[in-house]
Amino acid sequence: MTISIKSKAEITNMRVAGRLASEVLDFITPYVKAGVTTEKLDQLCHDYMIEQQGTIPAPLNYAPPGYKPFPKSICTSVNHQICHGIPGQKLLKNGDILNIDITVIKNGFHGDTSRMFFVGKPSIAAKRLVEITHQAMWKGINQVKPGARLGDIGSAIQVFAESHNYSIVREFCGHGIGKKFHESPQVLHYGTSNTGEKLKAGMTFTIEPMINLGKKDVKEMPDGWTIVTKDRSLSAQWEHTILVTEESYEVLTISDGSPDKFSTKKADK
Ligand code: MF3
Ligand code: CO
Ligand code: CO
Repeated sequence: MTISIKSKAEITNMRVAGRLASEVLDFITPYVKAGVTTEKLDQLCHDYMIEQQGTIPAPLNYAPPGYKPFPKSICTSVNHQICHGIPGQKLLKNGDILNIDITVIKNGFHGDTSRMFFVGKPSIAAKRLVEITHQAMWKGINQVKPGARLGDIGSAIQVFAESHNYSIVREFCGHGIGKKFHESPQVLHYGTSNTGEKLKAGMTFTIEPMINLGKKDVKEMPDGWTIVTKDRSLSAQWEHTILVTEESYEVLTISDGSPDKFSTKKADK
């Protein structure tokens, strides 16, 4: 599989799409509270994307081979849901942890990013899982530079997460991104350093580790999309879209509300 190298003009478009995706997360943050439904969060994000941003929500009706069309505009994965949660009528409650995953299309290019949210006050275990998962994503991002290999990213994430006795989900991975939502390469969140494709300036891909408090095994729900931990343990995920630069990397999915790389807490500005 060949990995596309984006031109200068394509990179400009990817920067725009990346920032817009992150700005949807900024927009929705104050609405994530006990008593709101994930369907309401979906509707708010959908309207913001269409009406305020002029972006297209990429998940809506997205149907890769073997899947039925995704019915909503964002993914909301609560507690033991790992990824691809379909927004619905269940109310968020105090102590829930939630991933919101946003993918927008602007000028034909995709930006893909997700963050974790706490509803009210999290348990110590949940908070720790969310913070370690954020750090794990950054361990992966920090590997990115021309000449580094995909296995370096996976290995850095795996070594770090497993040192905290968490497990890495294997069935889903990061991905190349551009005019297509999911393109080559697959960016595994586990593996062996010094193996895999070599990174080159101009590649764009996501890093989006899913990390479980318990065992790594997953189960698909009957809705055909929602993935949960088989042992019903909590799961967390963070995602950024990354550009390989001549020097190292640029995170494309950054906006005013992005937590900095050292903490999930918002830096004082
Ligand atoms: N945004 C997810 C990812 O990071 C993919 C969601 S596919 C959907 O790759 F159809 F569920 F939206
Ligand atoms: Co992604
Ligand atoms: Co995503």
